[in-house]
This record gives sequence, structure tokens and C-alpha cells, in this order.
Amino acid sequence: MPAPLSVPGVLLIFIIIFHVEALKPHLLGRHSVRTLRSVRSSSQQRDLFYKTFYFDQQIDHFGFLENGTFKQRYLVNDQHWHKAQGPILFYTGNEGDITWFCNNTGFMWDIAEELGAMLVFAEHRYYGESLPFGNESYSYLNYLTSEQALADFAVLITSLKKTLPRAQNSPVIAIGGSYGGMLAAWLRMKYPNVVIGALASSAPIWQFTDLVPYGDFYKIVTQDFANSGVNCSKNIRRSWTAINNLFSTAEGLQWLSKEFGLCSLLKEEDLYNFKGWLQETWVNLAMVDYPYEANFLQHLPRWPVKVVCKHLQFDTDVPDKQLLYGISQAVRVYYNYTGSAVCLNVSETATRSLGIMGWYYQSCTEMVMPMCTDGVQDMFEPMAWNFQAYSDECYALFGVRPREDWVDTVYGGKNIRSHSNIIFSNGDLDPWRSGGVNESLSDSLIAILIPEGAHHLDLRFNNEYDPQSVLLTRELEVMYFKKWIKQNTSS
Ligand SMILES: *[C@@H]1O[C@H](CO)[C@@H](O)[C@H](O)[C@H]1NC(C)=O
Ligand SMILES: *[C@@H]1O[C@H](CO)[C@@H](O)[C@H](O)[C@H]1NC(C)=O
Ligand SMILES: *[C@@H]1O[C@H](CO)[C@@H](O)[C@H](O)[C@H]1NC(C)=O
Ligand SMILES: *[C@@H]1O[C@H](CO)[C@@H](O)[C@H](O)[C@H]1NC(C)=O
Ligand SMILES: *[C@@H]1O[C@H](CO)[C@@H](O)[C@H](O)[C@H]1NC(C)=O
Ligand SMILES: *[C@@H]1O[C@H](CO)[C@@H](O)[C@H](O)[C@H]1NC(C)=O
Ligand SMILES: *[C@@H]1O[C@H](CO)[C@@H](O)[C@H](O)[C@H]1NC(C)=O
Repeated sequence: MPAPLSVPGVLLIFIIIFHVEALKPHLLGRHSVRTLRSVRSSSQQRDLFYKTFYFDQQIDHFGFLENGTFKQRYLVNDQHWHKAQGPILFYTGNEGDITWFCNNTGFMWDIAEELGAMLVFAEHRYYGESLPFGNESYSYLNYLTSEQALADFAVLITSLKKTLPRAQNSPVIAIGGSYGGMLAAWLRMKYPNVVIGALASSAPIWQFTDLVPYGDFYKIVTQDFANSGVNCSKNIRRSWTAINNLFSTAEGLQWLSKEFGLCSLLKEEDLYNFKGWLQETWVNLAMVDYPYEANFLQHLPRWPVKVVCKHLQFDTDVPDKQLLYGISQAVRVYYNYTGSAVCLNVSETATRSLGIMGWYYQSCTEMVMPMCTDGVQDMFEPMAWNFQAYSDECYALFGVRPREDWVDTVYGGKNIRSHSNIIFSNGDLDPWRSGGVNESLSDSLIAILIPEGAHHLDLRFNNEYDPQSVLLTRELEVMYFKKWIKQNTSS
């Protein structure tokens, strides 16, 4: 794994704000039965039945000299599909193994029966098994772009509708979370002839050059920790200096390695990596601060940030070692909740189902998401946004330089009002809401804010610990789906 980018390569992941709370009476009145019935008592992974298919996909949709094809993987479940009229819910796969996203998008499974829907989960090129050049794909990265991925989805959907018996008139709704949510929204914008609408959950389509304040992302992470325990964010803010201090002696390095249960002994030159690892750990925790025990990036307890903060509720002037002992216990909540970690590996922060290398490349080309920290309004070491340094690292890694303005140009930046039928949902706890569409832009470009929501909580299975706000959000989303379907099947 490469050294993190200047701004650590965090993972992925909306115009009148839709105050979900205000809709409560209305929704409960009409849908209370479903809301109550659909709450499941188990957070266990359910058995999901799907068939796996491979589609011959063009390697290059936008030029004609490269005429090769590759096998794009997609998963299908049609057990509830009402042929000839039932919709197709189409998950626009993001940067990883599609079976993992399939397993973690319970919302689609929960609503399939009610909508009589077919479920399709399509893998993003260059991830999972959908490798354009087999095991050498990462030597030929030129065709890894969001535009190619969107074209894959559009071509696949068009083909499915042509070839599946009686699917010609099935309206298709795109659904995705995080980068997959960005793709769902963009698919609707670029191919409105192919999908009738999109649900873009926790999709930071505005986390790009000059669109939103660059400091908000890490501020939100900090707020989550500040709100989850006394002195929690303050002690994390202090930890960076304490780490610098311990890194200055051999004894300190040894103590740290042992205290954190690391797989290998820290060396002086690991300072940047070690701090980057911790920073990414806090970010990931904020992203997956779900109200119940879950296994997304890691296996975690319910409200993991609260659990982490229990280890950091002490005076803000304790000595370095006492402070870092607390940090080491806090970090274990993330890496060793199950008790099965033999040692902690500072080169790993999340599930291997994600394609880190591919995402780095995308970040180094189109997906330039500026962020910065100041150490005052956030709990991290100050780091300005430095596009030149970022670009230089990309060049060193991949021999390419990012184009920081391209996404604004190709996907419209903030000027997207002419589009329609897109729901942008975001959770208050999710740092990625910093780049999300936070106000509804029109009657059919709807923003929903979920007060107790972390990263795309609304896309997960119903759970007995779900806050009312996410249940209402899902109701609202289904309501819009039905409206779009009706609009598109009545004629
Ligand atoms: C693809 O390109 C090769 C090399 O130019 C050519 O031989 C082949 O006929 C082309 N195949 C198709 C399907 O166009
Ligand atoms: C998805 O869930 C199935 C069981 O339902 C499991 O066999 C599979 O390993 C899971 N895939 C991933 C990538 O977690
Ligand atoms: C790549 O795949 C080919 C054929 O599938 C195989 O012969 C080759 O050894 C593989 N290379 C690597 C580096 O795994
Ligand atoms: C949405 O976010 C922008 C900053 O990105 C902010 O200026 C604006 O006030 C926010 N709107 C609402 C309703 O929170
Ligand atoms: C938080 O830190 C302050 C200042 O050091 C201290 O007075 C207070 O007791 C701490 N709170 C807890 C719960 O440890
Ligand atoms: C993980 O937890 C288990 C059980 O408490 C413990 O034996 C093990 O040492 C822990 N691993 C690390 C790296 O702390
Ligand atoms: C740590 O993680 C890296 C990257 O996944 C891996 O290459 C390495 O083998 C791991 N080290 C240990 C001791 O597990």
C-alpha cells in the first residue's frame, strides 16, 4: 500500500432542507403499519439470494480504436419482481467488490417486495472481478474513469431491458451510497433516458474545487467526537504533540509500538504514517457511527464513537504516556472489538473489500476532493490544502496529474437545477455531508438530512435500533420512488 496522499486518502462516501421531523405526523398517519412491522429485531447479516452474471462490456466507450471488451460482473435478484411493470432498482457500484455493497445495501432488499422490484447490483470497472485487463488491469489504468463507469451502467441497463423477457417497460431507479451515490446522481443527470430517478445517499458531489468550505469535513469528524464524551476531541487534539514527543526517543518508539500492539516496531520515519493511520481511524469511526453493532469497515459496537470516547474521558493535562495509553485503548475499539486481532497494522484501516489502489488513482485524476485542517476548529494537526503537493504525489505514484476542475465541468458543479428526480440524503454525523447537497434545489431535487445518521445509514437494513429519523427517511424515499414509477408507467 502506498503512503497516504497529502490529505490521507479517505474513503468515500443535499437545497430546501427536508426536515424529516416535520413530516412525522403525516408519514406516521399513512404508513405507520409498515414502519412498525418492518423493524427487524436482528442486526445479523441475512442470507441474500442472487445470481451472478457477467456482461461483455466495451473497454472504451468514448473512442473507437480500442475495441476490446471485458466481463463486467452484476448480481440479480428477481424473486419479487412483477414482470412487465415492476421497477428495476439498480445499484451503481462503487470502489470495491460488488458483493460487499450488495450485502451492505439492505434497504433495497427490504423494499423489493413492496415495490415488486428486481434488484441489480452492478460492479464498477477495475474493482472486484470486473477487471478490463485481468490481473494486469492496474498497469493499464487509462480506462478507469467515472464517465466510463457511468457508460457501463447505461449500456448494461439498456441491454437488460432489451434482453430480459418483459423488462422493456420496467422503469429503472439508480441507487447508490457514497461514491456510488455520486454515480447514481450523475447517471440520472447524464442518462435521463435510462433511469427515471436516483437515490444518492451520502454522495459528496460538491466536495470539489471551489464548491464547499474545505475545512468542514474534519470539523464534522471533530463534532462527532466532541459530542460523544467529555474531553474526547480535546484529548485527541493533544495526542499529536504527545506522539511527536515519544517519536523523538528510541524508548518512546518502543513504548508506543508495544502499547498499541503493533505488528512491527515503529521507526523514526514512520511518524507521518502512524499519525495518518490514527487520523484515518477517527475519520472512519465517524463515518460508521451507527446506532447498532455492525460490520462495515470493521466489526464495531453500537455507537462506536461513544465507546471510543469512554477511553478518553480524562483530564486534558495528563502526561503524554497516560494520554497515549488512552488513545491506544480507544483505537482498539475500532481494530479489536471482536478480540481477534493479533496485532495492529498501521498500513490497514478498513475492509479489504474496498479497492484502495483504484480509489487512489481516481483521486489522482478526476476525484480531487480538497480538504484541510486548522487544529482549532478541528482536532487534527493543521494542514492546508495544497494542490501542487497533492499533484506531485500523484505524479510520483501513477505518473499522472489530477485535473482539479474537471468534475465541476463535466457534472455541473452547483448548477444542476435543470435536472430532476434525484434524492440526496445525508446524515448529520457523516463527515461526507460537507460535500453533499444540503438543500433541496427544486420540487424533484430533494435533500434529506438525517439527524442521527452516519454514512448512508438509510441504505442499510432496517434495524430495531434505527432512529425514527432514518425510518422516516426510508418512507419518504419509497414514496418518491412510487411517484416516479407512476409518472413513468401511467401513459
Ligand atoms: C478490433 O480491432 C482489431 C485490430 O484493429 C481488428 O482486427 C478487429 O477486427 C476489431 N474487432 C472488431 C469487432 O471491430
Ligand atoms: C456477502 O454475504 C455473503 C453471505 O450472505 C458472504 O458469503 C459473502 O462473503 C459476503 N461478501 C462480502 C464481500 O462480504
Ligand atoms: C495473470 O493471469 C495469467 C493468466 O490468467 C497468468 O498466467 C499469470 O501468471 C498471472 N500473472 C500474475 C502476476 O498473477
Ligand atoms: C449548505 O452548505 C453551505 C456550505 O457548503 C452553507 O453555506 C449553507 O448555509 C448550507 N445550507 C443549509 C440549509 O444548511
Ligand atoms: C476534562 O478536562 C478538564 C481540564 O483538564 C478537567 O477539569 C475535567 O475534570 C476533565 N473531565 C473529565 C470527565 O475528566
Ligand atoms: C485483542 O483482544 C484480545 C482479547 O481481549 C487480546 O487477547 C489481544 O491481545 C488483543 N489484540 C491487540 C492487538 O490488542
Ligand atoms: C500489514 O498490511 C499490509 C497492507 O495490507 C500488508 O502488506 C502486510 O503484510 C501487513 N502486515 C502484517 C504483519 O500483517
